[in-house]
Amino acid sequence: MIISILLLLATQTLAEDYRPQFHFVPEQNWMNEPNGLIKIDSMWHLFYQHNPTANVWGNLNWGHATSTDLLHWTHQPIAITSEDGIQAFTGTSYYDSENTSGLGTSQSAPFLAWYTGYRPSNGTQDQRLAYSLDRGMTWTKFPGNPVISAAQEAPHDITGGLETRDPKVFFHEESEKWVMILAHGGQDKVTFWTSTDGKNWTWVSNLGTAQLPGLPSGITGWEVPDMFQLPIDGTDETTWVLILTPAQGSPAGGNGVFALTGSFDGEIFQADPVDTSKLWLDYGRDFDGAMSWENVPASDGRRILAAISNSYGASPPTNTWKGMLSFPRTLALQQTGAERTFVQWPVSELLSVSSPLKTIQNQTITPGQDLLSSVVGAALDIELAFTPQANTVLSLAVRKAGSQQTVIQYTQSTTTLSVDRTASGDISYDAAAGGVHSAPLQPDASGVVRIRVLVDTCSVEVFGGKGEVVISDLIFPDETADGLALQVSGGSAMLSNVVVRQVSLE
Ligand code: FRU
Repeated sequence: MIISILLLLATQTLAEDYRPQFHFVPEQNWMNEPNGLIKIDSMWHLFYQHNPTANVWGNLNWGHATSTDLLHWTHQPIAITSEDGIQAFTGTSYYDSENTSGLGTSQSAPFLAWYTGYRPSNGTQDQRLAYSLDRGMTWTKFPGNPVISAAQEAPHDITGGLETRDPKVFFHEESEKWVMILAHGGQDKVTFWTSTDGKNWTWVSNLGTAQLPGLPSGITGWEVPDMFQLPIDGTDETTWVLILTPAQGSPAGGNGVFALTGSFDGEIFQADPVDTSKLWLDYGRDFDGAMSWENVPASDGRRILAAISNSYGASPPTNTWKGMLSFPRTLALQQTGAERTFVQWPVSELLSVSSPLKTIQNQTITPGQDLLSSVVGAALDIELAFTPQANTVLSLAVRKAGSQQTVIQYTQSTTTLSVDRTASGDISYDAAAGGVHSAPLQPDASGVVRIRVLVDTCSVEVFGGKGEVVISDLIFPDETADGLALQVSGGSAMLSNVVVRQVSLE
């Protein structure tokens, strides 16, 4: 009896294993960044770098999951396999609506996926194609692979095709050609290629630090490009956006995600002058390899990004899985005068599985008060809108029990938003797992500071203002650390609106 109870407890704890409540993680084993994100009919498809046989990076396949709401995910069989000594690295998928590839029929156009074939035996990385004739559910490798061989890459890659990967591909309507963007590992450059059929490719241009004079130095090792047109809110215009994940040089150290705007004629991306204050899409440690869903119908119109939340390799203390998908967020561009700002926001689907636990309106909080001590929860969506007095520091502690807490703070005197993981739980697994990450955040035109915090079993994602800054960090608190605290020091704050919502997918 005692043994069976102990066994049950052990199994339950293992089953828990920090599994998030509303973020995607693999059923078993390793994942890194998302791949080939695409919406087909009512289905959001998530492919991702997946090792199905071990809880570490290696043996990479395209894992697959589907969802109709970006919240509830159904695990699907592997979409593109590692086989014959060739692993399936990162890439993208796209609808070949005109059957330019000839891999479908005019009645039934194919979906295409380009990925990097990595051959550990000789270290080459070439570009490959797979196609789906059943609307993304199963994928067949193109028999003529590779579509770009290491030899074809060699003249454009100083490693001769050993570091050429992560094809982002889209169909460019104006030039009626497919465009592919390839990252070149440690070379801080991407190359552009074009094709009329998605199978035969020609190099057309390079983009590197020489073309981006305002880019700060030290942002090195570019990987995982994404590129698309984005409307400029409040205008009829669109601009091109190029997103990259460098391995070094992000605000929180290590890898991160930056975004550039510019023009594109089908061959050359002409970047706008780099505004270093608006370069980074995240100021936390855990948002890398961002990619956006393609084929989202115009009636929806959103550009939705997701990334991998794990920049510590195999170190995080999860045993049955490793690597979490960030919560999907919209990316938009706002223009004030000549200044353009990216804004990101959790997809609104989240509100459909959230219910208010506590609301505070039009109440002043003064030093010594704690307004959320009666509220508990480990899966929360918290919104704060407040006007701080001079020198006020407002602190929201989440996942709190005893001295354990993750503190989201706004410091009025320096207009800084920060996340402090110093006492967040297990930070022993990696030298970069603790510490404080911060981002600049101005109050809005009426002096109101807005913060939205998504809290889950092992993460916080903190959106400042309308989403002009985001801080995403993994945390590993005790399961029982589910308290909250809202406090101020140095001055008071007028809380115009505080809402704590419980998120539940049950
Ligand atoms: C980025 C990356 C990609 C590559 C993939 C392999 O983290 O190194 O460049 O395609 O991971 O898993």
